[in-house]
Amino acid sequence: MTVREIGIVMNGVTGRMGYNQHLVRSILAIRAQGGLELADGRRVIPEPILVGRSEQKLRDIADRHDLTRWTTDLDTALSDPSTLIYFDAQATRAREKAVLAAIAAGKHIYCEKPTADSLAGAVELARAARDAGVKDGVVMDKVFLPGLRKLRRLVEGGFFGRILSIRGEFGYWVFEGDWQRAQRPSWNYRAEDGGGITLDMFCHWNYVLESIAGRVRAVTARAVTHVPRRWDESHQAYDATADDAAYAIFELDNGVIAQLNSSWCVRVYRDELVEFQVDGTEGSAVAGLRNCRIQHRGSTPMPVWNPDLPATEPFRDQWQEVPDNAQFDNGFKAEWEQFLRHCLEDAPMPYDFLAAARGVQLAELGLRSSEEGRRIELPEVAI
Ligand SMILES: NC(=O)c1ccc[n+]([C@@H]2O[C@H](COP(=O)([O-])OP(=O)(O)OC[C@H]3O[C@@H](n4cnc5c(N)ncnc54)[C@H](O)[C@@H]3O)[C@@H](O)[C@H]2O)c1
Repeated sequence: MTVREIGIVMNGVTGRMGYNQHLVRSILAIRAQGGLELADGRRVIPEPILVGRSEQKLRDIADRHDLTRWTTDLDTALSDPSTLIYFDAQATRAREKAVLAAIAAGKHIYCEKPTADSLAGAVELARAARDAGVKDGVVMDKVFLPGLRKLRRLVEGGFFGRILSIRGEFGYWVFEGDWQRAQRPSWNYRAEDGGGITLDMFCHWNYVLESIAGRVRAVTARAVTHVPRRWDESHQAYDATADDAAYAIFELDNGVIAQLNSSWCVRVYRDELVEFQVDGTEGSAVAGLRNCRIQHRGSTPMPVWNPDLPATEPFRDQWQEVPDNAQFDNGFKAEWEQFLRHCLEDAPMPYDFLAAARGVQLAELGLRSSEEGRRIELPEVAI
């Protein structure tokens, strides 16, 4: 059996996502399982080259995981001919420039979402990758999570009949950072640093909605900053200039209406941090990150509205759990494996720069809808 090492430049591994999900839970996990076996029996072992701004942090991570290759100079890493792929999980604003440099160096690109903070930037990246003939993939991890995979299985099995509507709740309370530490980075709350929940979450909602019911054709949104003052990583107070909640209606193909609330200013009274309810003519489902419950037409109760009486039905008990029927690996790792197969054996990769640009468009037009107080139709994104 041939074993091949492939160099992957990993930029932004000192951050939350770059370190936890991409380095530790994906690339190091693939190495720990002996690499990735390709269809023809060859094995590839990813060899990370860590890139970041802080020498000390990079050295600490490398020592902790017995890695030897790291640098604070991106050009040095990109000029190494043994590297095949550039990965980027930097703060959003830093992404475009680094990705363009990696495309110019002829690397295949895999990166976090949003790919850019404007549609023009996202389209420029898609064009540059296409023109350079390099492969591109973007993290769209939610569709790899067990709850959403079960939901997709229901769609493919025709469970819903005609899908009518989708409603989703995403959010939790993010502490302000004064009396308890904030559990998200402060740049998320500064528009000038690429923050904002609309830009952060609408690019997820775009591919989630596409996978359940079709393309988003129009958006009506209201984005607000509920908490205007927060405290950063060094306990300094700052003005939160970015939106921390967004309330939106998305109109999809075939008249499906999706309503999604996204908020970092909400306390959780739900089973999971995100939940989607899909209602169809034949049945309904409620899916979270892990679980998915269904109620079929034939087992739908007939509640009667009467505020003078206590609820007549134990509504939550009337739903049935969808079984796993499969082993679900970490969603980020599963998508990394798909991207590696895309680069090495030309496997399909629908989660590319073009799909990501549609997500950035949704965020951009969602913010415009909020500013202008109107419904906005989405033009087709072309590269
Ligand atoms: N797929 C997901 O579910 C998901 C979840 C959260 C965040 N993200 C995305 O991942 C990216 C990183 O987010 P995070 O939460 O890990 O952020 P983070 O602040 O924890 O990490 C940011 C990383 O970027 C680096 N960086 C480079 N230039 C920077 C600059 N000018 N300002 C700040 N940091 C800079 C930092 O050193 C650090 O390594 C973002 O683009 C974000 O949208 C994706």
